[in-house]
Amino acid sequence: MAEIVDRITADDEGGRIARTLLFPYLNHAATMYGDGYATAADIDAGMRFGCGYPIGPLALVDALGAKTVVDGLNEQFAQTGDPLHQPAPALVEVADSGAAFTGEGADGTPVPTVKRPVSSVGVVGTGTMASGIAQVFAQAGYDVVYVGRSQEKLDGVVGYVTKNLDRAVAKGKLDEAGKDAVLARLTGATEREALADVDLVVEAIAEDLDIKLELFRDLDRICKPGAILATTTSSLSIRACADATARPADVIGMHFFNPAPVMKLVEVVTTEATDPDVDETVRALCLATGKHPVSCGDRAGFIVNALLFPYLNDAIKLQESGAASMETIDTAMKETKLPMGPFELLDVVGNDVSLAIQETLVGAFGHEGWQPAESLKQVVAEGRLGRKTKAGFHTY
Ligand code: 3HC
Repeated sequence: MAEIVDRITADDEGGRIARTLLFPYLNHAATMYGDGYATAADIDAGMRFGCGYPIGPLALVDALGAKTVVDGLNEQFAQTGDPLHQPAPALVEVADSGAAFTGEGADGTPVPTVKRPVSSVGVVGTGTMASGIAQVFAQAGYDVVYVGRSQEKLDGVVGYVTKNLDRAVAKGKLDEAGKDAVLARLTGATEREALADVDLVVEAIAEDLDIKLELFRDLDRICKPGAILATTTSSLSIRACADATARPADVIGMHFFNPAPVMKLVEVVTTEATDPDVDETVRALCLATGKHPVSCGDRAGFIVNALLFPYLNDAIKLQESGAASMETIDTAMKETKLPMGPFELLDVVGNDVSLAIQETLVGAFGHEGWQPAESLKQVVAEGRLGRKTKAGFHTY
């Protein structure tokens, strides 16, 4: 920890880059906490388990000293005049009182238990997230029915899971019999009717509200009573999906992170209509699959994307300002022990996805300072979407 604090406070180029990019992120985490949107424990767990950060933002404020962060933000605000750089009331309060955001131990939330038994899971979609989610449940011992639009797409899911399991076998973490057992739990289908008997459906299809609403209307028609209907949307309204069905109490958000088999976080997103038993069952299921659930409300960006993407966008704007190159920024942030530099991560997530999320956040929160960076729009317009197109900010 001392190493991270030293790096961020260092009086050199790396330290300056880290402070420029991290202080507004810490400020936003303090605002999120001050608003009562999520607990300090869940905000910190979000960034640790969703993005592989060594420490959550509020614990980082405590480690740096809230006063250091407030002073740094005041300096930034004096230069930029951006209200996003004005220290959040919750941050100022902690700095003034000498208290801390974290460190009171467990937050007292009781361990969730399964209230609606789940033995079979349906996954709708065949992309990276759907494939990863199917793998997570199959590896945890659930029978999984995954639904795609063609046999070729279904084969892609098996290919993705097989590749990951082969890697685990090569590392000696799984044997051939274990791999076969996981694959045997996966059943592909091109018809949604195959979901009639599953206990839980997780959808990970296109991030387009009309497409999702059509799916939820169909799930309402097909699925048995009592089945839990979950969406892994990162930016659309869970309530809108719920209201497309005649059973909004059974609809919930389960936001997984990329790559789903590795990242331990699931944001469990409830609406005013969600049945508390559905919420508790889903949080228990997350634990049963080795994931860490955090609870949040139905708001754009939830916890993690609302904190992560403005930081990634700021990194692009810093590069555009001529203050530092992409490589220097990526290196500076990795030296603060983040697993990836911002440009590397943008290319993993996909620049089209990142742009869409950033636009959604601007639409929901209205912060001018969050307007998408010009070069983000440019790489997307040029089809440089990231690793998936072999070129993005970096070339692969
Ligand atoms: N699929 C499955 N498994 C993978 C994988 C993939 N694409 N990439 C890596 N792995 C596995 C490896 O097999 C290895 O498993 P093991 O520990 O069981 O042996 C493990 O992950 C670590 O892999 P490596 O040692 O090869 O690589 P790294 O140490 O560099 O870790 C990483 C890779 C886990 C991806 C790490 O770089 C990381 O944490 N990056 C941050 C990713 C992140 O921030 N994701 C969130 C993006 S935002 C999002 O998803 C929200 C959405 O709404 C857009």
